[in-house]
Amino acid sequence: MPDTFTLTLVAISAATGILWAWRALHPRSFWWIIGYPLTALNVRLTWRRVALGCGLTKKRHQWWFTTVPGAIASTGIVKVKRRFQRVAVDTKPFIWLPLPTRYGWRVTLHTLEGQTPTNYSEAAEALARSWGVHAVRVSSPRPGRIVLHVTLTDPLATIDQLPASDDLLKVTVGCLETGQPWTIDFRTVPHWLTAGATQSGKSNLANAVLAGLAPQPVALIGFDLKGGVEFTPYASRLSALATSRAESTDLLTDLIALMIARMGRCRTAGARNIWQLPPTERPTPIVIFIDEIAELYLMADKSEKNEIAATSTALLRIAQLGRAFGLYLFCCGQRIGSDLGPGVTALRAQCSGRICHRVNDPETATMTLGDLDPAALVSARAIPAEQPGVAIVAGQDGHWYRARSYLIDEHTVEQAAKQHAHLTPSWTDLTRHPIAA
Ligand SMILES: Nc1ncnc2c1ncn2[C@@H]1O[C@H](COP(=O)(O)OP(=O)(O)O)[C@@H](O)[C@H]1O
Ligand SMILES: [Mg+2]
Repeated sequence: MPDTFTLTLVAISAATGILWAWRALHPRSFWWIIGYPLTALNVRLTWRRVALGCGLTKKRHQWWFTTVPGAIASTGIVKVKRRFQRVAVDTKPFIWLPLPTRYGWRVTLHTLEGQTPTNYSEAAEALARSWGVHAVRVSSPRPGRIVLHVTLTDPLATIDQLPASDDLLKVTVGCLETGQPWTIDFRTVPHWLTAGATQSGKSNLANAVLAGLAPQPVALIGFDLKGGVEFTPYASRLSALATSRAESTDLLTDLIALMIARMGRCRTAGARNIWQLPPTERPTPIVIFIDEIAELYLMADKSEKNEIAATSTALLRIAQLGRAFGLYLFCCGQRIGSDLGPGVTALRAQCSGRICHRVNDPETATMTLGDLDPAALVSARAIPAEQPGVAIVAGQDGHWYRARSYLIDEHTVEQAAKQHAHLTPSWTDLTRHPIAA
């Protein structure tokens, strides 16, 4: 007959084994039934210590009973006295109960006086380390409230495959850290700027957008100043492709002429944009892809000055007026700094969609993401080289997200371009009035 100690040991080992197997075989149910309640309890119980350690508490003066040493008794023992006096105490932000989410949990806090969301963004990494989680993101739905979004492990470490194409001018290109799909919708955000170091995933993202748009009734145009090596394989689905500065200047001039013609057509029909035109009269939307945008602005010698000025002005006009007339930009580059000239700064201001992949210098992240939350910049600088395709995405809603594009190989994009080559409008089709077509 085994003794109690042995029985207890066997029972503990069996329970541990069952829990371990449960966690390994069905992590979701394990998280909901065991992991989440324990985490929620732990977060509430340790909040004072964590808030203090992460610098989120404030000293506040309160009237309180404190114990002070009093007279020494005849026995030599110090008598203690309780006195009602004003003392400084550490006050922690009020924390609600954490709520489970797909990849972790989120919790709402009430800020203390004088605290701003920045205080919490700056403490996000310290909070993540204290809780032993992958990341903590901060949002502030209304003044005085902070929501901490906690992810247990990096959901972008591996992501699924590219889904089928979506609505017109809308493409799902990857996955957000929240588990939501990452979509690029040109009708909502017409112009996009994508920055990142070499091998950070810019071309892969452009390919994903291109492959998503290929089956749609849209015209695609490429500017590939790397001599055409990126976009030439997709030429069957491109209505035009410029591979040198001179070709780019000509193509941009033609695009401006096309935009002006569309303007005239809208004015005659009393429409503010092409979407207000009757479908039979509506010109085909055009998405313009530009790889290595800096090449359009780099000047080798003074003779190129006028060409660059013309290119820069044309691009800026498309960015300023294109949305209404169905011209959308998707620009990629390693550098998008003001050192390339005022044209780049002005273009940057027109591109409300910003995507920042891994960058080599903090300035590029700052220029790409603009005056977003400082935590977004910290997050952009922390993207590891081993995770190409991971990026910080700023949408029109003013929020930022960490996201990863689906890996799509060039062969698949080439196949998609060939398969949908019949949807490619020729340049004549694009410039022709639809009524005459
Ligand atoms: N979303 C992604 N997931 C996994 N690997 C990726 C992803 N995007 C890019 N890569 C890998 O990184 C390499 C470089 O990507 P690429 O898009 O060519 O970078 P860039 O254009 O910024 O130089 C690709 O060959 C691919 O293997
Ligand atoms: Mg590239």
